[in-house]
Amino acid sequence: MKPGLRPCWDGDGPGTRHDPGRKPARSVAGEDMPEAARATTRAALLRARRARALLSQEELAERAGLSVRTVRNIEAQRLVRPHPDTVRRISAALTAAGAPPADPDGGHRGEDRPEDPKSAAHQLPSAIADFTGRDAEVRQLCGLLEREPAATGAARVLSVAGLGGVGKTALAVHVAHLVRDHFEDGQLYVDLHGCGPAPRRPDEVLAQFLLALGVTAIPDGLEERAALYRSVLDGRQMLVLLDNAADEAQVRPLVAGAGCAHLVTSRIRLLGLEGARTTVLDVLGAADSAALLGRIAGTDRVAHQPAAERIGTACGGLPLAIRIAAARLAARPHWGPATLADLLDDERERLDELKAGDLEVRASFELSYRMLDEAQRRAFRTLALLEAPDFPGWVLAALLGPGDGEDDPATDRGLRRANVLTEQLVDAQLLQISGLDRIGQTRYRIHDLLRVYGRERALAEDAAGDRRAALLRVLS
Ligand SMILES: Nc1ncnc2c1ncn2[C@@H]1O[C@H](COP(=O)(O)OP(=O)(O)OP(=O)(O)O)[C@@H](O)[C@H]1O
Ligand SMILES: [Mg+2]
Repeated sequence: MKPGLRPCWDGDGPGTRHDPGRKPARSVAGEDMPEAARATTRAALLRARRARALLSQEELAERAGLSVRTVRNIEAQRLVRPHPDTVRRISAALTAAGAPPADPDGGHRGEDRPEDPKSAAHQLPSAIADFTGRDAEVRQLCGLLEREPAATGAARVLSVAGLGGVGKTALAVHVAHLVRDHFEDGQLYVDLHGCGPAPRRPDEVLAQFLLALGVTAIPDGLEERAALYRSVLDGRQMLVLLDNAADEAQVRPLVAGAGCAHLVTSRIRLLGLEGARTTVLDVLGAADSAALLGRIAGTDRVAHQPAAERIGTACGGLPLAIRIAAARLAARPHWGPATLADLLDDERERLDELKAGDLEVRASFELSYRMLDEAQRRAFRTLALLEAPDFPGWVLAALLGPGDGEDDPATDRGLRRANVLTEQLVDAQLLQISGLDRIGQTRYRIHDLLRVYGRERALAEDAAGDRRAALLRVLS
């Protein structure tokens, strides 16, 4: 067994942990995980731990005061749920024989602690030192994560959606650090690369998680790995941060049982994820934008400077853009904020200026744009041509013009097509709902920096005549 593994063969899981506050694991009957997978895990882990303690089955049985048959039956998966007392005896014997618990302070948790704290799963990225704002979201997410697991056994899944660079990962990591003490079995983290060209495959992520949990015998196949993963985490309190998910199918196999909580970030809203509560993250307000700029660039350099406000406005409250702008200021102590504000003033240059080190606003938006199909891309870049701060849904039908075999975009079909595209862009966080107009129609807007990016794409991909014709159709 990999050092650091909490003995997963311990039958009733939490029941062996001498913790009166913890609920016993759910019974096997009626669970969604295959009993066989649970038995396999227990058996493999017991064998591995016994091997590490250099004990034969007979020696272990003798030291634990049990019959050899009991040990054999557990390892042969004939005894699926050993009695908690059996588990305690075996664990104590293994501990005494050289697989000691890692409890450097000699605390009361004893044998059920991971043997080696170095390999316990504590995978959260570092906390963000200059995390700013988001009070309401932090309060809400912490409140939900600190709640008792549902008695129904339903998994806790909280998702955070939003535009690229808006701060989903920053928020999730910040919140995860705040609540980590509520998850005494640790934290798992994975970047699922959902927006990139090669999203992580869930079966590979499961193998990675299982290894981190100390399982060395990884079965083949997604279903088998997912079942084993749920078995290993059954009754445990683990926080799982699934960062940058592509879609529901990528996330679903990585959702474990009720004791665990899952924080999922994604550029698209994962509408199909069962039981998930979604927080859609907006950009930072003016005060938080200014505070973040000050924390990175130096408060004394930006406080009470109108040019700092101009920088905040040019960044549109997007934390990624603010961090880049602030990093550029910090790197050039001889610049006043006005120097950078001037550089950002010109929309056509703005995205070129919003680069620092490996951070780049244009590259971030491009990931979202590449995820769209061609119809959605055309809709997005054509909408970006509009000067209006917001617009009703029918505008897209006019911009796109008549479809094949139609001569008027305002047909039911044309309007329906435009509505579908508009909603898809909203789900992809490339359009936001700005409210309702007087006659109850939804109005939409595009974030300023995204609009600049969309215009760049339109200039690069659409002929000037087509762009002009699209705008004329809206005006006529
Ligand atoms: N509240 C915040 N306080 C301080 N920095 C922040 C905050 N939110 C985001 N940032 C910074 O802004 C940048 C972008 O944030 P983050 O990576 O969390 O965005 P994201 O929404 O996860 O983007 P993506 O969709 O590309 O994954 C990072 O450098 C991050 O540290
Ligand atoms: Mg992210």
